[in-house]
Amino acid sequence: MPLPRPSPLQHLPSEELEGVDEATWLDVIHKMDEVYSKLVADEVELEEKNAQLEQSQQFIFSLLSAMSDVLIACNQDGLIEETNAALCELVGRTEQSLRGTPVVELLADAASVAHWRQSTEQQTPREGAVLEVNLRDARGQVVPVDLNCTPRRNSDGRLVGRVLVGRPLGELKRAYHQLREAHEALKRAQQQLMHSEKMASLGRLVAGVAHELNNPISFVLGNVHVLQRYGTRLDSYLAALHRLELPSDVQAQRAELRIDHLLKDLPSLLEGTLEGAQRTADIVNGLKRFSTAVHEEIAPVEISEVVERAILWVKKGTAPRFEVHWTRGPDCQVSGNAGQLLQVMMNLIQNAYDAAGSDDTRTPELRIEMTVSGSSVQLRFADNGPGIAPEHLSRVFDPFFTTKRVGKGTGLGLSISYGIVEQHGGKLSAANLPQGGAEFVLTLPVIPP
Ligand SMILES: Nc1ncnc2c1ncn2[C@@H]1O[C@H](COP(=O)(O)OP(=O)(O)OP(=O)(O)O)[C@@H](O)[C@H]1O
Ligand SMILES: [Mg+2]
Repeated sequence: MPLPRPSPLQHLPSEELEGVDEATWLDVIHKMDEVYSKLVADEVELEEKNAQLEQSQQFIFSLLSAMSDVLIACNQDGLIEETNAALCELVGRTEQSLRGTPVVELLADAASVAHWRQSTEQQTPREGAVLEVNLRDARGQVVPVDLNCTPRRNSDGRLVGRVLVGRPLGELKRAYHQLREAHEALKRAQQQLMHSEKMASLGRLVAGVAHELNNPISFVLGNVHVLQRYGTRLDSYLAALHRLELPSDVQAQRAELRIDHLLKDLPSLLEGTLEGAQRTADIVNGLKRFSTAVHEEIAPVEISEVVERAILWVKKGTAPRFEVHWTRGPDCQVSGNAGQLLQVMMNLIQNAYDAAGSDDTRTPELRIEMTVSGSSVQLRFADNGPGIAPEHLSRVFDPFFTTKRVGKGTGLGLSISYGIVEQHGGKLSAANLPQGGAEFVLTLPVIPP
């Protein structure tokens, strides 16, 4: 609005006007005109500058409001001077209430406060230093934020505070965490799938081989049994002959062919052959169990009864000094085959005895703990043996993997057990205990009560 033009004479008292000549008056009027014009020009300039200032303020405000990153401008004492809408929304406070608040008030924990203090202690903060802190959001939740810290200077270049800009990492971290978990689960599923596939094809191969071997082994076994009987008969017949007075050439032949020695050796040879054939038959039987084609009867099985039977049987066959500490859980039933489950438990207990009993200086011990949680029962078999060598951990479930001496183990126990447990919808895993010894964990789904 233009200034009202003042009249040069209106403010002067009439007695002062007298005695002043006209030239002086004109001069005064002229000067006043000049002053007035300058005032008008200044006012126009001021209004223009005002408009420009308002425009740039509006521009800065729109930038700050549009920023999705949080922004804090604070002074040298760490008191907030300026914030943006993203921060106000995150912490659930207004810009006015935040102004003058110490930055530490927004931090969620002692570690963040320590980080902040450490950074503010530096007289000249590094350009672009990143501060990892946790803020507390409007709902009281902890939100991790990486704040980019930049020094703020005035027009003389003097440090007047800091500008902190950052993005809440909560969502990003959560998404990353979920992604990693999904990736791990996928990897586990893939490994399990590969293992199952390997087992299935091995099962088919082994079942075929076992089937083919079964017939010849049955011949061998059957024939050796017959040979044993024939041997006994031949033995008694020859003994009767030898009691007679035989011609000298027959006597000579008896000595030359070492018939007496041969007759003495025959039973142990047949015994050895029978033992070998029997062992081969056992291995073939083990291999046949490997086949998924074997379907056995499925019925509700009381799991603790199976464990107790397995302990009894293994202890009968092993030294009495084997100490098994059994913690029975609540009664629960599993849908499955009692014979197969007994085979799994017996193999786990036998393996524990074999490992822990290998050292004569201490009593072999096994702890079996049973827990039922939700829809599954878990059995932990922890022994005091030497544990499993780290390079063997991934191989113990492989068929034919054994560290036992020849004739002691076939290396099929755990792979068969793994297959059985899988068929029952459960899991079997192996690990080493921190205090030493191995631990096998068996999980099976239970029949809902
Ligand atoms: N409790 C254990 N402590 C240390 N090593 C173990 C334990 N259980 C199993 N192992 C290792 O895993 C291998 C494979 O076990 P698995 O039961 O499959 O076969 P095995 O016991 O050697 O033979 P089989 O069971 O056919 O008589 C064992 O030879 C042994 O090296
Ligand atoms: Mg075994």
